[in-house]
Amino acid sequence: MNLLSIKELTKFYQSEKIAVDHVSFNLNKGECLGLVGESGCGKSTLARCLMRIERIDSGSILFENEAIELLDERHLHSYRKKMQIVFQNPSAALNPKLKVKDSLIDPYAQYKKELNLSHFSYTSKDAFIRQLLEAVELPSHLADKYPHELSGGQRQRVTIARAISIEPELIVLDEPTASLDVISQKAVLSLLTELRETLNLSYLFISHDLAAVSQMCQRILVMKDGRLVDQFNTNYLFDNERHPYTKELISIF
Ligand SMILES: Nc1ncnc2c1ncn2[C@@H]1O[C@H](COP(=O)(O)OP(=O)(O)OP(=O)(O)O)[C@@H](O)[C@H]1O
Ligand SMILES: [Mg+2]
Repeated sequence: MNLLSIKELTKFYQSEKIAVDHVSFNLNKGECLGLVGESGCGKSTLARCLMRIERIDSGSILFENEAIELLDERHLHSYRKKMQIVFQNPSAALNPKLKVKDSLIDPYAQYKKELNLSHFSYTSKDAFIRQLLEAVELPSHLADKYPHELSGGQRQRVTIARAISIEPELIVLDEPTASLDVISQKAVLSLLTELRETLNLSYLFISHDLAAVSQMCQRILVMKDGRLVDQFNTNYLFDNERHPYTKELISIF
C-alpha cells in the first residue's frame, strides 16, 4: 500500500538556487526507503518539505492520498501525528533545559486526545516514560537527567524514543547516526530496524552512507544536485545498469 507519494517536488531558495528539482517517488507502508547523496544535494530540504517545516514551490506531496501542501493548521496537526522526524544532531533536537522525561512526554502531551496507542500504554507519566526508555534500551534512571549529562548515542536514543512515543506511521530519519562513533552507529541502526518491525513503522532513511542505507533499506533513491538520478531495489545495487553516479558512490564505500 502506498503511504507517501511525491510528485515533481521542487523547492528553491531565494528563487535562484534550486535545492530540490522535480523529485518524484513513492514510499510503501512498512517500507524502509533509503535516500543517499552527497552533502548539499538537497536531502534535508526534501525532509523539511515533507514535514512542512518548509513550503514547496511546486509539485505535490500526498500522504495517504491527502495533499499535505493544502492542509490548514488543524489538519496539519493531525498529519504531524502520523509523521515524525529524527534529526542528525540530537543535541539541537533536545531542549537543554528540560529533563529527559519532560522532553519525552512532549509529543504525547500534544496529541493525547487523538491517540489510540497499540504498543505503548499510558497509565502514568512515569510508567509511560519507563516504557519508552526500555524500547530504546536505555536505563530508566536517565529520565531525570538533562541532555548534557548523556552521551551522543544516548541522546539520539532519546530523540528516537520521542519520535516513536505517539506511534506514527512514518519516521523520517535524517542522518540519525551521523554524530555517533562507529559502534554506537551500528547499535542505533539495529535498534531502528527492530523498532520498525515491532511498531510496524515505515522509514525514509536519509544518509550519505550507502553501506548503512543498503543494510537498512529495501529500496534506495539516489540524489545529486537536487535531482533524483537513480532508484532501485537494494538487490540490484551492483547491477551494471546503475547510474554512473551510483557506481561512483559504490566505489567509495
Ligand atoms: N535555509 C536555507 N537557505 C538557503 N539555502 C539553503 C537553505 N537550506 C539549504 N540550502 C541550500 O540548499 C542545498 C541543499 O541543502 P540540504 O541541507 O538540503 O542538503 P543535504 O543533502 O541535506 O546536505 P548534508 O548531507 O550536508 O546534510 C544546499 O546548496 C544548501 O546550501
Ligand atoms: Mg542534511
